[in-house]
Amino acid sequence: MRSPVLPLLLSFFLLQVLVSATHWEDYKYGRQDLEPLNKTSYCTWKCLLFTLQWPGGFCQSLNNKTECRIPQSISNWTIHGLWPVRAKHCCSCWPMFHSDVQELEAELNEQWPSFVKTKSSFHFWRDEWKKHGVCAGCVEGMNSPHRYFQICLKLRRRFNIYKILEDGGVVPSCKRLYKVEEVHSILTPHLGEKHEIQCVTDSKEREVWFQVKVPLAQNLTLGCHGDTEKDHGTGAGGASPEWIPSPGHPCPPQLPFYYFPINYKQPQQPCD
Ligand SMILES: *[C@@H]1O[C@H](CO)[C@@H](O)[C@H](O)[C@H]1NC(C)=O
Ligand SMILES: *[C@@H]1O[C@H](CO)[C@@H](O)[C@H](O)[C@H]1NC(C)=O
Ligand SMILES: *[C@@H]1O[C@H](CO)[C@@H](O)[C@H](O)[C@H]1NC(C)=O
Ligand SMILES: *[C@@H]1O[C@H](CO)[C@@H](O)[C@H](O)[C@H]1NC(C)=O
Repeated sequence: MRSPVLPLLLSFFLLQVLVSATHWEDYKYGRQDLEPLNKTSYCTWKCLLFTLQWPGGFCQSLNNKTECRIPQSISNWTIHGLWPVRAKHCCSCWPMFHSDVQELEAELNEQWPSFVKTKSSFHFWRDEWKKHGVCAGCVEGMNSPHRYFQICLKLRRRFNIYKILEDGGVVPSCKRLYKVEEVHSILTPHLGEKHEIQCVTDSKEREVWFQVKVPLAQNLTLGCHGDTEKDHGTGAGGASPEWIPSPGHPCPPQLPFYYFPINYKQPQQPCD
């Protein structure tokens, strides 16, 4: 005899599947975002991290170093991104198109290039927009891809790291080692006390400088009194695709690090 319980159970499960699918669709298509915009509850983040990368060290951060490519036109620190810290309610429904940044493209190509062969610069910008820009969009002045990227370029012009370091006697070198303390004290008047110097460890166990994070308040003033704990863990762990950069780590204070020059021919091994 067939039990009448089985069909009942089955329809119950089907119902469950339908219900969760509906929730998923709501999420996917951003039904939450149909609620009236409430700045108090939407724009909960207080701090931004403006992150710059150094092409001489960037390739060391890739799992697959042969994916790395530094265009000849690049000789300076470039933008990695502008990231609201601990943002919630980021509108994933907000697409970005090429036409959004057409006007800024020449400058973006120069200041925010992709160094990954299989990822175009536009692809890089769009990924940053999707992941971080959409979270910044609740603030006046950053509420469109065009405005967000415009602000980023403005910030890049404001922080002329290469020159600041050069004036302080810190220049790229295959031989010289630098101490965190020394570099930190040169950058502090310009980037604030809480900036972070980030390294990756290369295949020869050397600490290689590749990134700087500059904390900013929502109004883009230097420093931030809120929570600057990073929420940018992407790339950590073994499961990440080969071309996703490692998030790096703060350069260890007790271990001097290298600030390698850019080598266009072999960017993944600038010094050997
Ligand atoms: C916005 O959200 C906050 C917290 O959820 C609430 O206290 C406030 O009354 C809301 N404001 C408006 C205009 O809806
Ligand atoms: C690394 O990147 C190169 C160049 O794009 C590619 O040919 C190769 O298959 C990649 N290796 C792995 C292990 O993904
Ligand atoms: C980097 O750019 C700044 C201007 O933003 C310039 O002063 C500096 O000389 C450049 N450095 C290099 C190595 O091109
Ligand atoms: C910017 O924001 C910070 C922190 O909220 C605040 O202390 C500062 O007065 C603001 N500055 C300006 C120019 O609005």
